[in-house]
Amino acid sequence: MRKKVIAGNWKMNMLPNEAIEMITKLAEYVKDTNNEVVLCVPYIDLFYCLMTAQGTNIKIGAQNMHYEEKGAYTGEISAKMLKSIGVEYVIIGHSERREYFAETDEIVNKKVKSAFANDLKPIVCVGETLEQREAGNTFDIITAQTEKALYGLSLDEVQNTIIAYEPIWAIGTGKTATSEDANEACKKIREKISKIYGQNVANGVIIQYGGSMNPENAKELLQMPDIDGGLVGGASLKAETFEKIVNYNK
Ligand code: PGA
Repeated sequence: MRKKVIAGNWKMNMLPNEAIEMITKLAEYVKDTNNEVVLCVPYIDLFYCLMTAQGTNIKIGAQNMHYEEKGAYTGEISAKMLKSIGVEYVIIGHSERREYFAETDEIVNKKVKSAFANDLKPIVCVGETLEQREAGNTFDIITAQTEKALYGLSLDEVQNTIIAYEPIWAIGTGKTATSEDANEACKKIREKISKIYGQNVANGVIIQYGGSMNPENAKELLQMPDIDGGLVGGASLKAETFEKIVNYNK
C-alpha cells in the first residue's frame, strides 16, 4: 500500500508569524494521522516552519530551488542550502514556474537530479492546459512531462519521486477534475513509468492530484486507487481547512 502524501503549497502567501500560528494549530489537528503531511512554504518562512514543526509529524518543503549547488546566481537558493537547514521536500516544475519563469522540462530534470543529489524529495508537477485537454492531448502531455522529468534517474530515485498531476485549468479556479478523470490521468502516468522502469518501480511511485482540492472534494479524490495524495494550494493556508483534507479518512 502506498502511503497518502498530503502536501500544502502556500505559494507566495504567509508571513512568518502567520506560518508559526498555522503550524502550531495544524500540528495538534493532524497528530494522529497515518498520512504524510507536508507544507511547502516560501523561503522566508522555512526556518520558522522547521522550528515550529519540530517534534510534530509535519514535514517542511520548499517550492523551488536552483539546480546548481552554488555560484553566481543572484537571488537563487540551491538544494544543498535547503538541505542544510533541514528541509525534506521541494516542489519542482509547478505550472506557475513553467509559465511565469520559463521553466522547461530540461530545467525540471536538472532540478530533480540536484534534489536527489542533496537528499531532498522532489514533488514534480505535470499537467495540461484547457486547450490541450480540449484537443485530446492530456495523456500525451503529462506522460511526456513525466518521462522528461525522470530522465537519467536511477530506479531507486524514480521510485522516490512524487509526481503531482495538476491540470492547469483546475489550479486556483475552483474547478476540479472529476475523480474518475483525475484517477485516469494518474493511472496513465503510472503506466508510462511502468513501461520505462518496470511495474515494481511504478507501483511504488506516489502520484498526487492537485487543482482546487478542498475539504468537500478531497475524500472522493483521495479514495481513488491511483491517486496517492494531494498538492493543495488555497485550502492549505488555513489549519482548519487543510486538516480536513489530511484527515479525510478519519
Ligand atoms: P489550488 O492550487 O489548490 O489553489 O488550486 C494547487 C497548486 O497549484 O498546487
